[in-house]
Amino acid sequence: MRSDERDVDVPPLTEGIAPGTATDPAVGSDGPATVTVDGTAVSLESGATLLDAVEAVETDEHVAALCHYGREGIGPRSECRTCMVATDEHGVVPACSFPAEDGLTVRTGATDAAEARDVNLDLVLSDHNLRCTTCGKNGRCELQDAAIEAGVEEPRYGVFDDRDEYEPLDDTSPFIAIDRNKCILCNRCVEACNDVQVEGVLRMEGSGSDTRIGFQSDAETMADSTCVSCGHCATVCPTGALVEDGIVDATTIPLPGFTQANSVGETSERAGERSGPMTPKKRAEPTSGGDGKAGDAAGNASEDGSDADGAPDVNGTPGAGVWDDGGDWP
Ligand code: SF4
Ligand code: SF4
Ligand code: FES
Repeated sequence: MRSDERDVDVPPLTEGIAPGTATDPAVGSDGPATVTVDGTAVSLESGATLLDAVEAVETDEHVAALCHYGREGIGPRSECRTCMVATDEHGVVPACSFPAEDGLTVRTGATDAAEARDVNLDLVLSDHNLRCTTCGKNGRCELQDAAIEAGVEEPRYGVFDDRDEYEPLDDTSPFIAIDRNKCILCNRCVEACNDVQVEGVLRMEGSGSDTRIGFQSDAETMADSTCVSCGHCATVCPTGALVEDGIVDATTIPLPGFTQANSVGETSERAGERSGPMTPKKRAEPTSGGDGKAGDAAGNASEDGSDADGAPDVNGTPGAGVWDDGGDWP
């Protein structure tokens, strides 16, 4: 979806759930525009940004744009500032959110813009656990691509490498693993979950250096959240912070015994229980043909320890009975 196609009047999902920023007002140009990028004239439709112009030509330098997704109305967030470009008219500006005004002249190779992108990329890397060889996004990570394109050999601010300060890997969901040590706080997942999937599971929480991805339900783990395991957040995540659990390690260099989980250190894992792809709340909904003693819709088990289908849970987990069909999950 182009920025000018967004519905700017979309209300909050519910009064209790905050949306992301995909429903923010559009930021593009008011009308069609012609912009010159590194000497090449680019014709753009109404609603375009300078990033649209930059992406339309072979630029002098790579413009990463890490917090911008560019589809589905997700972004721009204007957080990472890895998309800075120089304009003759306005100086150095973030390309992702700057309107493509008719007649602008953009230079991606200008020294001040290139330096700004480099510094900002190094700042992102300084807060990122660079354990690429055990990461499920190795080889398909936008931060890795940006670092390679920029020729980063030694980030000027170092990398996040203090295991004592690592957040535990959240491996409690059978589908989505969260490694906050790789999160660059781009907000894409929040927007995908809240504004595109309309599930309202994720949120940004905290402030300053304590800012992190959390859950609107105040759950502590992905398994306890209201996640429906659609996977959209993992699809849009530019790094290995949110990874489809089934393909964690799928692209990594095989180092026997060395996994993302043990390279991070502390890991929150599910205790062997089976659960389906539905939220704990939805799993607890009574199924047809119940015996009247089923657990309630809030996930509470009935007094006899059975759940919504009247059968005992395999693992004793209240409300997990929808998947108590004898089959293995996943
Ligand atoms: S997988 Fe869960 S957290 Fe991710 S977008 Fe879907 S509902 Fe939201
Ligand atoms: S988890 Fe991924 S998509 Fe979400 S804010 Fe962090 S880096 Fe961005
Ligand atoms: S992509 Fe422009 S600020 Fe992040």
